[in-house]
Amino acid sequence: MALTLLIKDVDEAARLLRAGQLVAFPTETVYGLGADATNSKAVDALYRAKGRPSHNPLIVHVPDSAAAFALTRASPDAVTLAEAFWPGPMTLVLPRAEASAIVPAASSGLPTLAVRVPAHSIAHALLVAAGRPIVAPSANPSGRLSPTRAEHVMASLMGRIAAVLDGGATPVGLESTVVGCLDGKVFLLRPGFITRDALEHALDRPLDEPPENREATPLAPGQLESHYAPRARLRLDAESAAEGEGLLAFGPAAPAHTGPTINLSPTGDLTAAAARLFDALHELDATGVSSIAVMRIPETGIGYAILDRLRRAAADRPRDSGGA
Ligand code: TXA
Ligand code: MG
Repeated sequence: MALTLLIKDVDEAARLLRAGQLVAFPTETVYGLGADATNSKAVDALYRAKGRPSHNPLIVHVPDSAAAFALTRASPDAVTLAEAFWPGPMTLVLPRAEASAIVPAASSGLPTLAVRVPAHSIAHALLVAAGRPIVAPSANPSGRLSPTRAEHVMASLMGRIAAVLDGGATPVGLESTVVGCLDGKVFLLRPGFITRDALEHALDRPLDEPPENREATPLAPGQLESHYAPRARLRLDAESAAEGEGLLAFGPAAPAHTGPTINLSPTGDLTAAAARLFDALHELDATGVSSIAVMRIPETGIGYAILDRLRRAAADRPRDSGGA
């Protein structure tokens, strides 16, 4: 595929998806790389375009809860969470329905299926126009930073996908909270914008521990691999940046620095910081610095999800392997 189109027309994007092509589109969290979940050639092409290991399952995106529950077997807890947070930045991992048009490769052959109902108006319109479930991992090569702008997708997947549907910057900026609802338990698989507190408040009880038996109910496999890696090394909990480093600051007390500097939120607002995180890392990385000093982020509320992404990005990693 030689050319990747940058488009604004939802119907054109839906036509391409129905024809088995790969199309990136905005959601409220990050840009997703869409493919027809019922077309095995399209799903295989998606794994290849991302360089994603086939054992790391995908999230199926649908326009409403009814469509999500037609593909799965929802527990009462799952219904409670769907009522509280869909449409929105939450993914539920549920047992797959017995009969389903979703190709097995979409969920890496697992007996479970991850489903999500995005709130973004363009994503919703696209899902309605496509008229079929769409798998969509974050639209980045496996192991790299997630994209929050169409330009991020173009920069990393140009020539490997048919089109990018441009909807501007994504408002939440961090991937969905992934919640398992399996075997009567409800557990967090990936922290996100919907916090543990919010989930527990909706359920009116504490979350369960993720099950030990990973054979029967595997943890989000993508969470086991290194990812969110910028080219530059990250140095967390930094109090100042050295010469030659980039500085990712947070809050009003940022240290003075003459090199490339971005403050995630000068007022110390964690929601604003989440929305800016990946874009800031993309931008600092593009300056060519070999290291980025990251100021301390408070581990409360959405700070927990921000730190999850930063720690993964900072971890030692084998290059170009694994990741989501
Ligand atoms: O916000 C989001 O969730 C974005 C947008 C595009 O919707 N998508 C996204 O997809 O972040 P991806 O593929 O980058 O991350 C999906 C995560 C991975 O950690 C994967 O392992 C996990 O969900 N997952 C998917 N299906 C699963 C399943 N059946 N069981 C356990 N984990 C699953
Ligand atoms: Mg990802």
